[in-house]
Amino acid sequence: MSEDVEADGVPSGVSVLADAAATVDGVVFATPEYNQAIPGVIKNAIDWLSRPAVGTPLRGKPVAVTGATTGSWGTRLAQTQLRGTLLACGAWLMPIPVLFAARAGSDGWDGLAIKAFFNGVTGDFKRIGRTAA
Ligand SMILES: Cc1cc2nc3c(=O)[nH]c(=O)nc-3n(C[C@H](O)[C@H](O)[C@H](O)COP(=O)(O)O)c2cc1C
Repeated sequence: MSEDVEADGVPSGVSVLADAAATVDGVVFATPEYNQAIPGVIKNAIDWLSRPAVGTPLRGKPVAVTGATTGSWGTRLAQTQLRGTLLACGAWLMPIPVLFAARAGSDGWDGLAIKAFFNGVTGDFKRIGRTAA
């Protein structure tokens, strides 16, 4: 995110992302972990979405967080950092479900936990949407 760029006009890719975020019932942020942090590209996307120039679409938006890594800690630190940033944006952060996908892609990893996570959060998003309507 750059305020200098913003002053010249919001990039089209940011507008597409912001419009999508504004339209959906909820957003799932899935992160890898690089040196115990979220990748810069995810932080940059959230920083853009926090701007009034794109309508702050994360404010009041139900959001869930997960992550996967080939390592053994399952992106715990990256997800913690991501949660803090989303709260700063005024997102409605769902405390559960929680999924730290460690050793992703290794033998024995069948992805069923990821499927259960997404089934859970999409159901929650729909329920929250119905309640708010
Ligand atoms: C420079 C670098 C640093 C990494 N640091 C961590 C780390 O701190 N914790 C972790 O769990 N995995 C770490 N990893 C492993 C990545 O999270 C893992 O490769 C991830 O699945 C990459 O996902 P992506 O290809 O979608 O970016 C690191 C990988 C790289 C290349």
